[in-house]
Amino acid sequence: MFRYTFLVHNFPSAPQAALRLRSAEAPSSRTTVRRAVRADAGQILELVTLYAGQGLMLPRTLDQITSRIDNYVVAADASGRVFACAALEEYSPSLAEVSSVAVSPSHHGKGLGSQVVLGIERLARARDIDELFALSLTDKFFLSLSYKPTTISRYPEKLARYDTLSKSGVEIVPKRCFQKVLGKSWSAPQLVELEPASTRQMKLA
Ligand SMILES: CC(C)(COP(=O)(O)OP(=O)(O)OC[C@H]1O[C@@H](n2cnc3c(N)ncnc32)[C@H](O)[C@@H]1OP(=O)(O)O)[C@@H](O)C(=O)NCCC(=O)NCCS
Repeated sequence: MFRYTFLVHNFPSAPQAALRLRSAEAPSSRTTVRRAVRADAGQILELVTLYAGQGLMLPRTLDQITSRIDNYVVAADASGRVFACAALEEYSPSLAEVSSVAVSPSHHGKGLGSQVVLGIERLARARDIDELFALSLTDKFFLSLSYKPTTISRYPEKLARYDTLSKSGVEIVPKRCFQKVLGKSWSAPQLVELEPASTRQMKLA
């Protein structure tokens, strides 16, 4: 199987991209942030469904997640237990949304949410996407990742999607909008192949 994980660097020249690992609070020394695989889909669904029920994100079905599994990043331990996820939702060749950012309640405040978002940024850059936006009720989270507040009216594609969902009966909770332009000089944790796992797997502790 071809999987990726993150090799974590702190970039002195790009502090906004540095991972702020809190080793004393790290969930497990074997937790890695990696591209999702089909076997993760059920656990991603559980996380998303939990927060969709609280109006914090849009619901997803297992089919939707499985068919778009290449767009997801997860933080998971060596046994495959998923603690956090995020997704890249593409709207055009240059624009995408960071969506479905979810961390298991038992693992909040340990940096995993930040790390899966940085993973999505990496994925976006690999696909030549320049601009990301995100919608959240939580200001501080995206601000801490160098996103700038903006208005959702910048993204008519998203408004159109909201309109469609709303007409189909999905409740849309108003959220604040954040934007990040990745730019050509942007850098983030490097994606590397998992193998050989012993030398390349990113350890949080
Ligand atoms: C929001 C969420 C993804 C954050 O994940 P996390 O792993 O706990 O966040 P991190 O540890 O990476 O924290 C990063 C920063 O965001 C801040 N932050 C995290 N959650 C926050 C919250 N609920 N309210 C305000 N600030 C928050 C942290 O204080 C931290 O800032 P600091 O470094 O200055 O202290 C997580 O709380 C979650 O799953 N929430 C429910 C789902 C949700 O709201 N998703 C976002 C919508 S896309």
